[in-house]
Formats: sequence, structure tokens, C-alpha cells
Amino acid sequence: MAVTQSELVRTWRHVLDMCKVHSGETVALLTRPGANAQNLAAAYHALEDIGCHVFELQPLIKSRPLRENKVAMEALRNSNFILDFIGLHLLRTYELDLITETGARMLYVVEPPEALVRLVPTVEDKLRVQRAGEKLRGARKLRVQSDAGTDMSVAIGDYKVLLEYGYSDEPGHWDHWPAGFLATWPNEGSANGVVVLEAGDIIFPFKSYVRSPIRLDIEGGYIRKISGGFDADLLREFMAQHKDPEAYAVSHLGWGLSSRARWTALALLGQGTNGNDGRSFEGNFLFSTGPNTDGGGKRDTLCHLDIPMRNCSVSLDGVPVTERGVVLDN
Ligand SMILES: [Fe+2]
Repeated sequence: MAVTQSELVRTWRHVLDMCKVHSGETVALLTRPGANAQNLAAAYHALEDIGCHVFELQPLIKSRPLRENKVAMEALRNSNFILDFIGLHLLRTYELDLITETGARMLYVVEPPEALVRLVPTVEDKLRVQRAGEKLRGARKLRVQSDAGTDMSVAIGDYKVLLEYGYSDEPGHWDHWPAGFLATWPNEGSANGVVVLEAGDIIFPFKSYVRSPIRLDIEGGYIRKISGGFDADLLREFMAQHKDPEAYAVSHLGWGLSSRARWTALALLGQGTNGNDGRSFEGNFLFSTGPNTDGGGKRDTLCHLDIPMRNCSVSLDGVPVTERGVVLDN
């Protein structure tokens, strides 16, 4: 559904207020060619209303990493708040920590206006994600099961816990609007079992729903076998194209906590969405493969899949946190 610019500006203003962006702060807009013009214009408008010092930075990052651009890096490190329309974390060139270590707050925005307006973050979203985060932080074993045949266990605790709740209001915090999930990375080599993807589960970056079951046999932290029909063939071929054994590692694992994010959004928005409805819808188990550098590990690979799964039951140290796709808040 089309969103009017005035509605979008109001929404941006609200989210920037939640991020505690205030008059006199320096705000960087980190952009790229093709960034959503409606979002960019609305951000400028709202930041002007607040009374911020605003500048736009559109670095050339195809041939040289931003990290090597000292002037640009210092500009970002000296900003109070950064709106990232690029997705720095996706580049795998490690600027994020260098920027946020200064205390700069950072918000990644890539979804279309329709999704931003529909998924305005709330304080309750943050509290819910934080409460789940406490459970995840304290746990040492995560197990996921489903009626479709999924039964995988991993040891956790060696890597950080990622909380995404849709706004960035604390020094050094990175977030993504919209969002509503949490995750951590398994201890090295500890993932074992079987993951069965079912019709309706989503594979990113394909941005498509699985239509036929895919069985993943996992041992010692890596997928060892991919079996099934067409969907399995597609997945197997895509991963093989990277010619990188690290592509098969089990990466971040967690679950969705947004009651407003929609499993169906992908069917409507198609390639126009970056997929955070899919990653955030309540009760999904977010399985993923590839790197663990974002969690503090050393495994780097360009092959990264996010796979939100429905109808899974997740437990931490034997205590259920979701049951057949339903979040157990307690
Ligand atoms: Fe991911």
C-alpha cells in the first residue's frame, strides 16, 4: 500500500525520537546509488525538523573498502548517529565495530516505506527482545525440533547475543528498522542433528518460500548433506557455487518476536523487501548458514543464508521458549 510522504516523515520523526536523536547532534546518512529516495527525503525532512547537523556520505566501496577511507571513517566515528542505507554489516569489511566503538548509534534502514510505517518499533518490542536475550545469554544448549523431522542441538555461550528491536537508543548500539528477533552463534563445531525445511519456510537471499521439503544433515557444525527435490537442488547448487567449505557452517540461530511482522509479506512485496518481516515474524526459528564474524568468530564467507522456519519448537537448556512456532513469553 502506498505511503504518503507526510505519513512517512511523521514516522521517521517518531523513530528518530525513539533513537533519542536531538537538536545539535551530528547525523550521517550513509547512502548508495539506488537507496530508497522516499526514505532518504523523509529522513532529511525529519532531521531538519529536529535541528541536527546532517551530512550525506556516499562512499565508493566497490574497489576499496570503506575502512581504508580514513576521512570518511573519521567522519562516521565522529557522528552521534548514523543512518545506514548501505548495509555496512553485509559487506564483511569490518567497519561497524570501528564506528560504534566511539558510542555512535547506528540504524540500518533498507525496507520500503510501506514496511517502515507498518512496523514502527515500540518500547515493548525492545523489552520483549531484551527479556528473551537474558534467557539466551544464560543458556548453554539450544535445541530445535519440529514435527517435520528437525532435531538439532548446539552448544552456545562462546559468541555474542544479537538483539534487534528496530531502533537504536543506546550508545554504540546497532539496530535495524524494522526488526524483532534475537540470535547467537553456536560454539565452533557443536551443531549436530537434522534440519528439515518445509513448504512455507523462507530462504534469503532467494527471497522465496520453500515449496518442497529440504533435509539438511548436520554434523560437527557443518551441513554434510542436502537432500530433497527441486528446492534442495537449488540450495545445493547455490551453496556449491561459492566453492567455499565455510559456506556450510551453521551460523546465527534465534527466534522472531515481532507480533506485527508478517510471514506473508514476502508474497506481497517480493524482491522489493529486504526480508525483515520474514526474519522477525513471531515464533519463527531463524536458522542460518555461513560466517560467524558478526558474533565474534573468525569464520568468514560470502555465502550467507537466513532461513526463517515455521512450526519449530526451540528450547534452551531443556526449557522451551517457542512451541510449534508459538512464542512462550515467561
Ligand atoms: Fe543473517
